[in-house]
Amino acid sequence: MPQPTCRARDTKMILVNPSAPDQALLQPAADCLRNGGLVAFPTETVYGIGANAYHPQAVRDIFTAKGRPQDNPLIVHIAALDDLEALAREIPDEAYLLSKRFWPGPFTMTLPKSSRVTAEVSGGLDTVAVRMPSHPVARRLIRLAGAPVVAPSANLSGTPSPTTAAHCIADLSGRVDYIIDGGPCSVGLESTVISLTSEPPRLLRPGAVTPEELREFLPNLAVDPAVTGRLPEDAAAPSPGMKYKHYAPKAEITLIHGSFDQFRAFVQNQPPKGALALVFDSEPERMSLPCVAYGPEGDPSAQAEALFAALRALDDADAKVVYARAPSAEGIGLAVYNRLLRAASFREIHLNN
Ligand code: TXA
Ligand code: MG
Repeated sequence: MPQPTCRARDTKMILVNPSAPDQALLQPAADCLRNGGLVAFPTETVYGIGANAYHPQAVRDIFTAKGRPQDNPLIVHIAALDDLEALAREIPDEAYLLSKRFWPGPFTMTLPKSSRVTAEVSGGLDTVAVRMPSHPVARRLIRLAGAPVVAPSANLSGTPSPTTAAHCIADLSGRVDYIIDGGPCSVGLESTVISLTSEPPRLLRPGAVTPEELREFLPNLAVDPAVTGRLPEDAAAPSPGMKYKHYAPKAEITLIHGSFDQFRAFVQNQPPKGALALVFDSEPERMSLPCVAYGPEGDPSAQAEALFAALRALDDADAKVVYARAPSAEGIGLAVYNRLLRAASFREIHLNN
């Protein structure tokens, strides 16, 4: 079905103090949200495009602003636990325990949806994904808007998620009513998503909250095969977002597993013209190709924070072919690996076995 075209909007910028945002500055954006407008705002994970979850036209507008497939459901962002009770029709004890431990924070869970959640929000599923973000700007904005806020990442569908207001401007200028600049996002990758409606519970998208942390509460948590692999063409995706191409810069990326020396020998043997390398900090000076770095080798949190800006930098450098150092997939590294694997359309080479 062709996407309806996005109507032109006069996008206004609001600059706020990320840790103590001034209510008077946020109020116009909150009023706009309440009345059905679209507002890009910072969260601790990535920037989101917000719309009032209870305003069906605003929710539809998000899909056109992003160019997002209609069957890809949205995460509902809340500022208080009461809102969870309005959105979900059944809340198991584990959900309360998980919310106590991981909210506010980079953690999303899916539950059976209540009748307040429209089919536009849930992408036609019978479940709803809910998250309580910790970023002071996000929390204040949601409270002021007086309603739960659906917020997909504030990028055009298919481009890397935005971790700065500049990324939002590049993708969404003229497509949203406000962009709130609250500085760079501290986590840098989207929230961990788990399904509490499957048996056993299932990790759908890795993020800063790791499977090891979740297993303290959900010992039988399964990791969906789509986290580290490609879904077969005919498989139904448990999370519709999994089946779409994601985080993809324009270049053809290949992920290379192995040591730095193996990587350098492989890449420098026959570098195709115009190739770039995506490497760890301090490695560019030891390479003879142009490089973009995405954090120190041993620090997956720093890699998470840097990755999406690095993918955008590859586009800015007009990279056509990119060789990327594969991260360790331990802890938060699983989320870094998951995003890079998708950016590489699952192209991987193992030099270490
Ligand atoms: O960190 C985040 O989660 C960011 C910030 C803005 O909060 N938001 C975000 O939203 O990443 P989005 O729409 O870009 O990604 C949401 C993912 C998609 O892959 C979608 O398919 C999945 O969550 N999802 C949403 N509702 C779901 C549901 N009911 N069941 C399964 N998956 C769901
Ligand atoms: Mg997204």
